Amino acid sequence: FVVHLVCSFFSKLQEDPTKKVDRFLYAMRLHDDQLSDISACFQAEMKKGLSAESNAAAAVKMLPTHVRSTPDGSENGQFLALDLGGSRFKVLQVKVREGTGIRKGGVEMEENTYPIPEELLTGRGTELFDHVSESLKDFLHEKNISLEKKHPLAFTFSFPCEQSALNQGLLLNWSKNCRARGLQGKDVVQALRGAIDRTGGMDVEVLAMVNDTVATMMTCGFDDQHCEVGLIVGTGTNACYMEELRHVDLVEGDEGRMCVNTEWGAFGDDGALNDYITEFDRDVDAASNNPGKQILEKMVSGLYLGELVRLVVLKMAKLGLLFDGHVSDALRTKGKITTAHVAAMEEYKDGLKNTRNILVDLDLTPTSDDCVAVQHVSTIVSFRSSNLVAAGLAAILTRIKQNRNLRTLRITVGVDGTVYKTHPRYPNRLHEVVRRLLPECDVRFVLSDSGSSKGAALVTAVAQRLASRRRK
Ligand code: GLC
Repeated sequence: FVVHLVCSFFSKLQEDPTKKVDRFLYAMRLHDDQLSDISACFQAEMKKGLSAESNAAAAVKMLPTHVRSTPDGSENGQFLALDLGGSRFKVLQVKVREGTGIRKGGVEMEENTYPIPEELLTGRGTELFDHVSESLKDFLHEKNISLEKKHPLAFTFSFPCEQSALNQGLLLNWSKNCRARGLQGKDVVQALRGAIDRTGGMDVEVLAMVNDTVATMMTCGFDDQHCEVGLIVGTGTNACYMEELRHVDLVEGDEGRMCVNTEWGAFGDDGALNDYITEFDRDVDAASNNPGKQILEKMVSGLYLGELVRLVVLKMAKLGLLFDGHVSDALRTKGKITTAHVAAMEEYKDGLKNTRNILVDLDLTPTSDDCVAVQHVSTIVSFRSSNLVAAGLAAILTRIKQNRNLRTLRITVGVDGTVYKTHPRYPNRLHEVVRRLLPECDVRFVLSDSGSSKGAALVTAVAQRLASRRRK
């Protein structure tokens, strides 16, 4: 018995610290068969959202965007653009240049980022929009843009909106960290026009409002005709794709295609992901701005990944599995581990060193094993995120393939968002899992840098091209 005790003591001492994390977080490590189940379930949700009978009860809203075509390179024009809803609020001037012959068109832009004070995100909607339009005026002054002539403006607004036209959209609900009062159920384009009038001194016409996923797809689509999916993994997460119009019950007409904004962040709001939800997801949800809403988003996106890691590390410490059972006040404090920390902990060369520094900053005294274990927590949490995104994408790509009756599909996904752009390992993991889940598809991923800002201008340019073709 004594020999057994000594042996197990030494084997414990030598155990790879990632093993105990694997055991502790087994529910977050999703296998391919589970991902395929999630993907199949998401396909059913998409159908539910698209159909007129079930749309009202559907968690995944599948919102028509009134964008009927991706760019063909012949678009041109000069636009102002606003991008509100991600990690930063931006004002831009975008010039779209038409290409001729083999010369490709180009998009040039100048931009300014304007901070949004925290209280505006949770205060009155009119004040938030006044800030937006005052920033626009400031931009026009700073860039010496003439106030004499009329400027077409395109608006990227990254929240769920019910659109009956390109230049109209009722805000269904807020998500992420915004919950300004008095806008829900209102037309956001009208709200913006109202604010522009109140600010005064600008001649601006708001021509289009688009979701960031749509803008991202359009930006990438300007260079790549195969780009028919837009993906965001940033503060929030979402995807859009080109659907056959005959399947979009909420819009009349059967010919051609329309881009659908899935609003997949809400997948799971009706319990569809309950088998996969952990106590940490429940805690993140309970402490959020919108409990019970955006369940997938809370398992995936940048606003929540750091907090998930903190809650896991805290629980493990409390159980004596880390830091010799020691817990600091900082570790107990919401928001002390961010998604930027998660990305730093998983860096190729300096990951472990960064993990130690982050833990020391949280007033902890980690051993080397503790650092390895915490780094592994971070890996499991961010890997689950990319796995879930892969499952969603696999569902969308399968749907497109079936829609078009194809045996193989060649497609490009345009991607934007801070998590995808700044986490050193996220893109590769995502690409690999999508390709494993869909061996029969040739999927390319293109980083659509600033796609969510530029793309609104492209939507407007495409709409103008289509309108002038109709006039001819
Ligand atoms: C949230 C919004 C959605 C947006 C996404 C990414 O999920 O509801 O509209 O596309 O965040 O920014």
